[in-house]
Amino acid sequence: MGISKKLYIETYGCQMNVSDSEIVGAIMKENDFDITFDKKEADVIFINTCSIRDNAEQRIRKRLLEFHSLKKQNKNLIIGILGCMAERLKEQLLEEEKIVDIIAGPDAYRHLPQLLASLKSGQKAIDVMLSLEETYADINPIKYDSNGITAFISIMRGCENFCSYCVVPYTRGKERSRNAETIINEAKELFERGYREITLLGQNVNSYICQNDGNSINFAKLLEEVALINPLLRVRFATSHPKDISDELIYTIAKYENICKSIHLPVQSGSNRILELMNRKYTREYYMSRVDAIKRIIPECAISTDIIAGFCSENDEDQNDTLSLMEWVKYDFVYMFNYSERPNTAAAKKYKDDVPENVKIKRLQQIIDKQQKLSMESNLKDVGKVYKVLVENISKRSAEHLAGRNSQNKMVVFPKKQFKLGDYVQVIIKKCTAATLIGEIAE
Ligand code: SAH
Ligand code: SF4
Ligand code: F3S
Repeated sequence: MGISKKLYIETYGCQMNVSDSEIVGAIMKENDFDITFDKKEADVIFINTCSIRDNAEQRIRKRLLEFHSLKKQNKNLIIGILGCMAERLKEQLLEEEKIVDIIAGPDAYRHLPQLLASLKSGQKAIDVMLSLEETYADINPIKYDSNGITAFISIMRGCENFCSYCVVPYTRGKERSRNAETIINEAKELFERGYREITLLGQNVNSYICQNDGNSINFAKLLEEVALINPLLRVRFATSHPKDISDELIYTIAKYENICKSIHLPVQSGSNRILELMNRKYTREYYMSRVDAIKRIIPECAISTDIIAGFCSENDEDQNDTLSLMEWVKYDFVYMFNYSERPNTAAAKKYKDDVPENVKIKRLQQIIDKQQKLSMESNLKDVGKVYKVLVENISKRSAEHLAGRNSQNKMVVFPKKQFKLGDYVQVIIKKCTAATLIGEIAE
């Protein structure tokens, strides 16, 4: 056996990229590479990239500048760009970023060893073929950067919703579901290794469908199967598209204590006019009816969302619709973004990115302020309640405290006492900030 080479991976973007990097790690390990956390000793650096907004791409371009000096020190260093930015820009990225040797799109990771082997002095390698079938179902990801307690499992790839602003259908290709048995086996194995929380990942998990010997397994069924592995294994999922979050799914979440009571339901905008331009395929009223169903069936369920400020032609009235919807839902948590026009999307082709930057910033700030208030109100309601918390980490602020989340996905900090990572602890909430619940061990 030769001495294994060192691979350094840096990951940007969504949780799916985190999970993809673990797949890349596994593929490379099979080919005599070990993961290193020290980029200075790396033989190969892979940057797994994101294209969702322009600033995501700019950040990665800046990072590449920093890698210049490493390449000067080590002429043999190989730099590969993986993921959505590789897929979006293809050869153009090789021309623009001279230090890059390899470009590999999200469905090309099995070919990474061949791409590496094909690099001859000065030559570059590229594979950006998208696939109709690839789900990496048989690959056992390596959890090289994990707390050993919480893990992600990709259950599907791609997206065909074509929201007008979004690059994902172009960078990730057609929607496809991974075979259910491989998902359940991966979850079982993680549980046996000590993991206590699995998040099932896909751009739109509600449309998961696995056909197997005449049986079909939809998302609600898959979720149930994973929950049945063991009551000590918590299950989460992301993301749900509002257009097809079914009652069946909501009832399944309600039925099992270990399916977390937290639903991420991206709304994007509260204005029907904007929702239509975004091609989200639902109305404000429909969205509200789904939130009503969640609150009726699971009263303790937390609801979080994504909101885009300043989409094409958005006016003050649209913005007020978004703010009033936030107030109506009373979100527990929100990811908030300024609209960023992405080349070649339907919005870039059909509409003008005409909301001035300063207006976008002002509206985003209003949304942030609104959510700050709503998060605080939501957390204040939890003071005095007792929650079961899964210990995930030592608190960042104090070694005497542990941090974990309750079923509602809220971060809870409490005294360490005799507890350790992976334990479930009953915590009574004593106080809070807008971001964190602070508690004591419930006797
Ligand atoms: N599949 C998920 C979202 C994936 S992208 C869903 O449909 O809900 C995560 C979030 O990034 C989106 O929900 C959206 O709020 C935001 N986003 C996507 N494209 C964007 C763009 N061009 N500008 C700003 N935000 C964007
Ligand atoms: Fe993008 Fe829409 Fe697909 Fe989400 S559902 S990934 S926002 S196209
Ligand atoms: Fe970014 Fe691609 Fe995820 S664009 S958000 S890394 S699917």
